[in-house]
Amino acid sequence: MPLTRAPFYLTTPIYYVNDVPHIGHSYTTVAADVLARYQRLKGSDVFFLTGTDEHGQKIQRTAHAKDETPQELVDRMVDRFKDLWQHLQISNDDFIRTTETRHVKRVQSIFQRLYEKDDIYLGEYEGWYCVPCESFWTAGQLVGNKCPECQRTVERLKEKNYFFRLSKYRDMILKHIDSHPEFVQPEARRNELWNRLRADVEDISVSRQALAWGIQVPMDPGHTIYVWIDALLNYITALGYDDEMERFKRYWPARVHLIGKEILWFHGAVWPAVLMALDVPLPQRIFAHGWWTIEGQKISKSLGNVIDPLRITELYGVDAYRYFILKEVPFGLDGNFSYSALVNRINSDLGNDLGNLLLRTLTMIEKYFGGLIPSPQGPGDEDKTLIQEALDLETKIEKEMEAFQFSHVLEAIWGFINLSNRYIEESKPWVLAKEDRPKLSIKLYNLAEALRLISIYIFPFMPQTSQEIQSQLGISPEDTLQKRERIWGMVKPSSRINKGKPLFPRIEMSPQPA
Ligand code: MSP
Repeated sequence: MPLTRAPFYLTTPIYYVNDVPHIGHSYTTVAADVLARYQRLKGSDVFFLTGTDEHGQKIQRTAHAKDETPQELVDRMVDRFKDLWQHLQISNDDFIRTTETRHVKRVQSIFQRLYEKDDIYLGEYEGWYCVPCESFWTAGQLVGNKCPECQRTVERLKEKNYFFRLSKYRDMILKHIDSHPEFVQPEARRNELWNRLRADVEDISVSRQALAWGIQVPMDPGHTIYVWIDALLNYITALGYDDEMERFKRYWPARVHLIGKEILWFHGAVWPAVLMALDVPLPQRIFAHGWWTIEGQKISKSLGNVIDPLRITELYGVDAYRYFILKEVPFGLDGNFSYSALVNRINSDLGNDLGNLLLRTLTMIEKYFGGLIPSPQGPGDEDKTLIQEALDLETKIEKEMEAFQFSHVLEAIWGFINLSNRYIEESKPWVLAKEDRPKLSIKLYNLAEALRLISIYIFPFMPQTSQEIQSQLGISPEDTLQKRERIWGMVKPSSRINKGKPLFPRIEMSPQPA
């Protein structure tokens, strides 16, 4: 690979391990994976990071309630995340746990440095704390005495704390947001952040007194570092900042931090301020996506509707799930998961449109050409639209991928799939088989070629299906993906197809699985 490949660093939030992963966590991780795979296809030098957030009061309490030590709890739970990511075909390059020594020692040295710079100072905190969100709140921020973020009960805190001078950086952050409209997306979220920064910015607590489960404050061992500071720093400690700088120099600044909308304050205000204090450039983009509900309800343990993505994918398949969550909802908006919507998409988009295109094409190549890709004699005018659309598709995909509009990318690909299906209807190969064999070769060759391109375009979303199509077409996956040749005419005439089972056989809607 040439050394000139552009670095592309992207991250997901690191997830709390007090509970098992659910569809919400898998959403951000799958979206990041699609982006990572797409960038690799384009030739970028991708570094894709995910991981787990393992300190703090929430974890400590959960462990206590389960009669475990926090360490036992996090060691047990981290595998649930790792196993799920493997199962969902997540191609992360690193996985960081905040309890790892590499992270702990770097967080301590950064904290010490900020203290020495006087960006961190000792003070006293009196106010409210939400344990589920691990957030400090002033009385004025509470809504009906509850946490404004999750609407749960907050606890009163009065303790000696180290504070970070967030207020000092407020104007610089506002200026950065103004001069970099792409920094926080989507726009509605940027406006919310901007308004909050304008309205109220006080220095924030960055340590907890007497909370044992955390990274010790280096200059004051009776305190631990606030879990959000500990967590945010993962984005640079995983790259070796600041004692093994090679990776950091190569990949930082991140091209994008993908997050859910509820943690934008930490990523769009606190994180930039910490980076400014460290003289480290800011990430290029922060994209805050929306929230999933399940059958119309908030996902919550108390409502008992937390669905394990493993269970969904056992029933419906990994690729169908990956496709569904990115197709169903424009990235950035809230969405609702329902089994009937999932089954409808599988039957229509995946089975009917894509599966049938492959099945019909291969069946005809078998029937009319004994399973060998025909040799085309050069396309006629009526074939030009298909070819042009196939090639234009790449530009459309690129534009939508740049904007993280995954559902639009899929719409564009499916537009082409449907055009290919219409091409079959219009060219009537079953008539050509009797009347015009040369034309029949052109049509079936073009359909095989269209499917080859489709398999490349869907690869970031549905890696297994992409490979399955390539294997049925009889083409080698490595060649096709690594050369990235999106030019017309790469399928070799006379090569043998390898027709297999239909993709996405029809599912009859059953009652909602337990
Ligand atoms: N540990 C912090 C993040 C630290 S990042 C430096 C945290 N963890 S979390 O386990 O609560 O995960 C939050 C993230 O999970 C959200 O930002 C989002 O990416 C994803 N989701 C969790 N529930 C979700 C939905 N219901 N819908 C969509 N995504 C949501 O916050």
